[in-house]
Amino acid sequence: MCEERYLTFALGKGRLAQQTLALLEQIGITCEEMKDKNSRKLIFVNEEMKMKFFLSKGCDVPTYVEYGAADIGVVGKDTILEENRRVYEVLDLGFGKCRMCVCGPESARELLLHHERIRVASKYPVIARDYFYNKKHQTVDIIKLGGSVELGPIVGLTDVIVDIVETGSTLRENGLKVLEEICPLSARMIVNQVSMQMQTQRIRDLIFQIKALQSGEGVPPCES
Ligand code: PRP
Repeated sequence: MCEERYLTFALGKGRLAQQTLALLEQIGITCEEMKDKNSRKLIFVNEEMKMKFFLSKGCDVPTYVEYGAADIGVVGKDTILEENRRVYEVLDLGFGKCRMCVCGPESARELLLHHERIRVASKYPVIARDYFYNKKHQTVDIIKLGGSVELGPIVGLTDVIVDIVETGSTLRENGLKVLEEICPLSARMIVNQVSMQMQTQRIRDLIFQIKALQSGEGVPPCES
């Protein structure tokens, strides 16, 4: 690969970034610099492959990609839905699987069933609003929280929550249940719209290689 221009990746910090780097490594894309746990650097470069990588808060990844600060981003579908940025979603990476659900105490099931005007706590007000207003046609009051959303019904702030459920243990340990499922979630690859036109071959090769890996066909050689 001898492209002049760098291809820049924005990765949501944490487990998603680690899983993405492991996936990229399987198709021969590595970034040794990133493996140094003591490093305080924010941006990492693979000069040979003309690639750059940076880690950001997950919720900022679509913003970097929409504005072209990153060509490619990896982030959860929850963030893509919540941020609603102008980016292309090109690939389901198949990891980070979980569900966006309406959860609460068993007693709240009736309130949902009868379309009562209830209070909903969520870190995802856009997703919650879309679900209740556009899909269920139920008028609700949405209260945005920054985390530990399960507290909402426990302390009497809200009737239910809209939140991510992975193993279900946070709900179980707090006496809450999944009452309705909104959608399945997983890590997705997103691409800047201009980059998709200008770097078509490189990005298509990347997608092709990941798809081949996912389907167990082995990694084909990169064309560029
Ligand atoms: C997420 C989510 C749930 C929990 C679900 O919270 O908001 O609270 O994980 O996982 P589980 O079904 O495996 O228990 P996170 O740990 O990201 O922290 P937060 O509550 O501060 O958002």
